[in-house]
Amino acid sequence: MLDKIRNVIKDSDDELDDYKRVLLPTTREDIVITGGNGPTIDIIHDGKRQEGVIDAASQVGTKPFGHRYEPMLEELRPLYEKDSDFSLMIDGQGYYHPLQRELAEELTSIYPGNLSNGDLKVYYCNSGSEAVERGCLKAAQLHRGGNSYVAFDSAFHGRTSLALSHTTSKGHYTEGFNFLARTLVAPYATKSGGKFHQDPEENAKQCLDVLEKKIKTEGPKNINSVMLEPLQGEGGYNVPHPIFLEGVRDLTHEHSIPMIADEVQAAFRTGEWFSIENYDVQPDMISVSKTFSGGVEPFGASLIKDEFAVDESGKHSGTYGGNAKECFVALKTIELIRTNNLLEHAKDEGDYLEQRFDDLTSYDIVHETRGIGLFRGVEIRKDGEPAPDLRDEVIHTMLNEHDVLAEPCGNDKYNTAIRFLLPLTLDREHSRKLADALEDAVKQHT
Ligand SMILES: Cc1ncc(COP(=O)(O)O)c(C=O)c1O
Repeated sequence: MLDKIRNVIKDSDDELDDYKRVLLPTTREDIVITGGNGPTIDIIHDGKRQEGVIDAASQVGTKPFGHRYEPMLEELRPLYEKDSDFSLMIDGQGYYHPLQRELAEELTSIYPGNLSNGDLKVYYCNSGSEAVERGCLKAAQLHRGGNSYVAFDSAFHGRTSLALSHTTSKGHYTEGFNFLARTLVAPYATKSGGKFHQDPEENAKQCLDVLEKKIKTEGPKNINSVMLEPLQGEGGYNVPHPIFLEGVRDLTHEHSIPMIADEVQAAFRTGEWFSIENYDVQPDMISVSKTFSGGVEPFGASLIKDEFAVDESGKHSGTYGGNAKECFVALKTIELIRTNNLLEHAKDEGDYLEQRFDDLTSYDIVHETRGIGLFRGVEIRKDGEPAPDLRDEVIHTMLNEHDVLAEPCGNDKYNTAIRFLLPLTLDREHSRKLADALEDAVKQHT
């Protein structure tokens, strides 16, 4: 079937203007995807065809196993047979069905800390924004009854209204939209220090002071939630300082404000199920999507600790979310990751890439490399200053000369990093090719 899709791509499909005429702009208007295999994709880039390109963004995180992952395809084929039990495929949360329960129990078992069955309530939906907004933020609002929320600098939480009011990475996303909610924005402390102090630990403490002041001035009872990405994605692939995450947890505990970990981008990639497990912190809610969808179809979930879940029928429902096929695929995703030791693999491959990327800091333009497992960022600067154009040139060289597709990331002030969100099935040969490509591109632009 995928072959058929590929065969209908005609020469006339090379013209990017034909896409622009009928579609609202996407993020990368220079690329059309025509096929894929393992960690690689086939694309039309600037009107030219390129095959076997390493998909270093795994289609913005949605392809945890890369493309045409045979173990998943094997699981899917029987669903389409004539006597398949999956007649309930388009059935969301109007009614219960057993796979919803099974998946919720599985998610309870992998939630950070040792939760017992019933300690977690799961809401299923169709995307990352919905997992953030329709599940977590709405639960927090019902639970707390306030009108304010807390988000952090450089955050990306999606594009629906309440989620967007928490998205701070670039003004471009929020400009032109009005928000009903009041969102306070606090500084995010990274492992490398920054805003207030060069020393990362001191910086983390000062960021926490600001957060504490904001909470107190607003009146803690008015605040519904404090939400963050335990590893920031779109805003720069920033790794938080442990003191900061632990401090956010302490402050939210002190005021009984639910702490939400948005894991839409980072879950299942860092060698742990959830990226926050790299820290000694247990959040009250987690949003997941992307990887969780197994690369098969859109899916998201909000994992809400029982004490914050509102038990009122219909408040959190939805037409499609949690249909049998989505639950089946998410269960298989978890099973395949487990049986193939892919979390371990993410760690091993991540260690290799970390070392290769770190070696590049000897080049002037590589300011910093960061990340955990297969979630990695490389920050490019020129004479110590953010250099988005130079970063874009490095990305272009990787794609044009080495068949490696990577994406940019960063906030308005430091929009200068390259992100690598790699498939869990990346093998050493691909990792090496990717690292060589980055090295050559960096050399060329130094
Ligand atoms: C951390 C995070 N939260 C939420 C979202 C929004 O997800 P979606 O685009 O599926 O609505 C994204 C998307 O990139 C994300 O990275």
